[in-house]
Amino acid sequence: MPNWKKHDMSFLDGRRQRRLRRTGWMRDMLRETVLTPADFVLPIFVEDGVNTRTLIRTMPGVERVSVDLAVEVAKAAAAEGIPALAIFPNTQDERRNENGSEAHNPDNLTARTLNAIKDAGVPIGLITDVALDEYSSDGQDGLVRDGEILNDETVEVMVKAALMQARAGADIIAPSDMMDGRVAAIRAALDGEGFEQLAIMAYSAKYASSFYGPFRDAVGSGSRLKGDKRTYQLDFANTDEAMREVEQDIAEGADMVMVKPGMPYLDIVRRVRDEFDVPVFAYQVSGEYTMLKLAGAAGAINGEAAMMESLWAFKRAGCDGVLTYFALEAARLLNAR
Ligand code: PBG
Repeated sequence: MPNWKKHDMSFLDGRRQRRLRRTGWMRDMLRETVLTPADFVLPIFVEDGVNTRTLIRTMPGVERVSVDLAVEVAKAAAAEGIPALAIFPNTQDERRNENGSEAHNPDNLTARTLNAIKDAGVPIGLITDVALDEYSSDGQDGLVRDGEILNDETVEVMVKAALMQARAGADIIAPSDMMDGRVAAIRAALDGEGFEQLAIMAYSAKYASSFYGPFRDAVGSGSRLKGDKRTYQLDFANTDEAMREVEQDIAEGADMVMVKPGMPYLDIVRRVRDEFDVPVFAYQVSGEYTMLKLAGAAGAINGEAAMMESLWAFKRAGCDGVLTYFALEAARLLNAR
C-alpha cells in the first residue's frame, strides 16, 4: 500500500470499521463527546419597559424582553440546567452619547437586569458584556475621535463599566471590545475593590465578522455603525494573530477565553484547546443562528437536527461551553431524551 499517511496505518488494512457503527447502542457506547445543557450559555437581549417583548426581525424566534420578563427567562433557563446567561441591553437612544457613559450608569439596563435576577434568587450565573457599542451613539466598541478608535481612553471607560457590573451582581465579566490591555486593567480594578472572586471570560479571538449583523439589530447599534471594526477585531484570514491575543489575555488574567464567531472558526477553537490550558468557549453568533433557522424554515435542512449537529461540533472541536441562542431549545430537546 502506498504511504499516504504520516504514520504507518497498515494495521487498518482490510479492517471492517463499520462494525462499530452498526447499532444505536454501539454508537452511543462509543461516542467520543457529550453535549448537555450545562454546556450552554444563553445570551438574552433586554429592553426598557414592563412586560414587553419585541421580536427581533432578523433572528427568528428570538425576542428582546423587559427586565421583569428577563427574570422569567432566567428561571426557565435554570430549570433546564443552563448554567449561565449573557446579558445584552438595547439602550434607549436618549441615553446614548459619544462617551458611552451609560455603560457605567449604576441604573442602566444591564444593572437593573442583574439586580432583578439576583433579587429573585434564580440559581443561574450572570455574564456581562463590557464594550461600548451597546451604550454609545457610534455603534463602535470603543470611543471614537476623528474616525479613530481610542484604545487607552476606552479601557478607562470599560474599567468603570466592569466595576459597576461587579457591584450590581455580575458573576463573570466578559470584555468583548478587543482593546489592548483591557483584561489587565479590569482585573486590577476588580481586585482593588475586593472582587477577587469574580472571573473574567475574555472575548480573546474575536474576528471582524459579517455574522454579527442580526445582533446589531437586536441591541440597536447596527444602524449607527459607520465603517467596520477591523482596526480592533481580528482579520478572518489569520490564526497566529488569534494565538497571540489568547496568550496575552491569559497573561493579563483572563480565567477563560472565547473564540467568536463559532462554526466558521472551529479551527481556531481547536488550536486554542491544543495550545493553552484554560477553559475555552465559542460564541455561535447571531448570523449563524439565523442561517440555520432560515434554512430549516425553508425546508432546505432539518433545522432541529442541524442545530444539534452544530452544537456537538463545538464540543468535538474542544469547547468547554458555547454561547448560543439555541440554548433553551436545545436544552429542552436534550432533557426530553
Ligand atoms: C460587541 C458584541 C457583538 C456581539 C457580542 N458582543 C457585536 C459586535 O462586535 O459588533 C455579537 C454577538 C452576535 O452576533 O450574536 N459588544
